[in-house]
Amino acid sequence: MTDTASSSHFVPVTAFDLVVFGAAGDLSLRKLIPSLFHRWRDAQIPPDSKIIGVSRTAMDDAAFRTLALESFRKFHPGEGIESTEWEAFSSQLHYVELDAVSDVADWSALAGKLEGCGDKQRVFYLALAPGLYGAVSANIAKAGIKCPGARIVLEKPIGKDLASARAINEAVGAVFDEDAIFRIDHYLGKETVQNLIVLRFMNSLFEPVWNANAIDHVEITVAEEIGAGGRASYYDTAGALRDMVQNHLLQLLCLVAMEPPLDLEPDTVRDEKIKVLRALRPITTENIRQTTVRGQYGKGASDGKVAPSYEEELGSQSEIETFVAIKANIDNWRWKGVPFYMRTGKRMKARYSEIIIQFKDVAHAIINNDGEDLPPTRMVIRLQPDEGVKLLLVTKDPGPGGMRLRYVPLNLSYAEAFEARYPDAYERLLMAVVRDDLALFMRRDEVEAAWGWVDGILSAWTKDKTPVHDYAAGTDGPAQAAMMLDRDGREWFDGV
Ligand code: BG6
Repeated sequence: MTDTASSSHFVPVTAFDLVVFGAAGDLSLRKLIPSLFHRWRDAQIPPDSKIIGVSRTAMDDAAFRTLALESFRKFHPGEGIESTEWEAFSSQLHYVELDAVSDVADWSALAGKLEGCGDKQRVFYLALAPGLYGAVSANIAKAGIKCPGARIVLEKPIGKDLASARAINEAVGAVFDEDAIFRIDHYLGKETVQNLIVLRFMNSLFEPVWNANAIDHVEITVAEEIGAGGRASYYDTAGALRDMVQNHLLQLLCLVAMEPPLDLEPDTVRDEKIKVLRALRPITTENIRQTTVRGQYGKGASDGKVAPSYEEELGSQSEIETFVAIKANIDNWRWKGVPFYMRTGKRMKARYSEIIIQFKDVAHAIINNDGEDLPPTRMVIRLQPDEGVKLLLVTKDPGPGGMRLRYVPLNLSYAEAFEARYPDAYERLLMAVVRDDLALFMRRDEVEAAWGWVDGILSAWTKDKTPVHDYAAGTDGPAQAAMMLDRDGREWFDGV
C-alpha cells in the first residue's frame, strides 16, 4: 500500500516558555530555532509561547531575531521563507544577555521575561558545555524561576567518562527530579530509528528469526563526510568513541538487540535497553587489539576537493581517533556468539548510517551457483539518507538459461512509499519535551551504563597504547577495520 496523501499529524501542545541557554551557539542557531520555526509553520506552537534565548553575547531581541534569520537562511539555503511569516514567528523570540554561570546575582531580566509561574509549561534547554550543567541548574533554582513542573534538557555528551557523568547527574539531580530531566540523544528522534521498533515488533515475520539461531552478525555504520572542522578543539577532547559510540551507536545497538518491551511507556523501553548495555562483554587490555580499531584521517579528497588532515584542521598534533571500529558481544541467550560490529568516522567516503542484519547461510545449497558462494539473506536498514529498508534475497534470474541466481533487494524506499516531510530529529524531541514524554530520552542509569562500558575501552587503549592508524580523507577508514572482520571470515557489507 502506498500512502500518497500527506501523513503529517501534529499532536497539539499547550503553551510553553522555552529558555535556551547557549542561544548564540551552533546548536541553537543550526538546529533548535529552525526546528521551532518549522513546528510554528505547522501551527503546533501556541501563539502565547515564548522562546527566550540566553547567552553572554551583547544583543537585544531585534539583533537576536536577525541572527536567527540569517542562520536559518545559511543552514536551509533551499528553503523559501516569507518575511511576514518570519516576523510572526520571531515575535515569539526573545533574548536575554546573561552569563548563566557567573552572574548569580542578576537574573532579573530573565525572570522579567518569564513573568512568574503561570499555567504555561517551562522548559530550560542547556545548549552548553556539559561541565556547566550543574552550575546553571543550581543558578536556575537560586533565581527562583524553577516553577512546579519545570523541565531541563541536557545535550550529549553527559560528561567524558563515568565519573564525570555521575558528577553531572548528581549536580543536576540535586535541583531537578529524574522525571524532569530530558537527556538528548538526537538519534532517538530520527524517523527511521523510531521505525526500528515498529519494524521489529509490529511485524510477526521478524521476531522468530531475530536471534542467534538465524542471525550471523550485525553491522552498524554511521559514516560522515564532514571533518571535525570548526569543532576540532571540542572534538579533540572527545574523539569518535565518546562523541558517537557512547551515545548514538550504543542506542542503535540497544534498539536492535533489546527484548520486546511490554509497551512504549518510557520506562518499559528504557528497562529493556539497559539490560542490553549491562550484557555487553567488557573490552579489556587482553582483547583490545582484536576488538577495536582506531583511526585518524589524513589529507585526502572529499566532495571533489582536497580535504585537509585532522591535524591541519586542529592546528596541532593529536592522538585522538576520528574513526573507530568495534566488535561487541552481548552475553545473553538471544545473542550468544553473534558479533555486533560497529564503525563510525569523520571524512569517510560518503555520509550514511546503516544497520545490516546478516542472516546465516542456508544449511545446504541445493543449487551449484557456478561454484560461487551464495550471498546470505541480509536486511539493510538505511537510517539516512535515502531512508528505507531492503531485504536482500537470492532469486532466480528470469528467462531461459537454467537456474541462474541473482541477489536482488525487496525495497521499501520511504521516499517512494510516503509523501511526507522528514522533520529534523530536534523538532520531534523539542515537542516531546513540551508534551512531557520521556520515551525518546536517556535515563540516568542508561547513560552511566554506556559510560561504564566505554570507560573499559578508554582505559584499555591507554594501558595498551593502542595505535591510531592513518586513513585518507574520503575513504572507508583504515585498512585495519576490514582486517578485524577478515579475521572472523567476514567483511563489511558495502551494498550490491
Ligand atoms: C553529534 C556529534 O552528536 O552527531 C557530531 O557530536 C556528529 O560530531 C553528529 O557530526 C551526527 O549527527 P547526524 O544527525 O548528522 O548523523
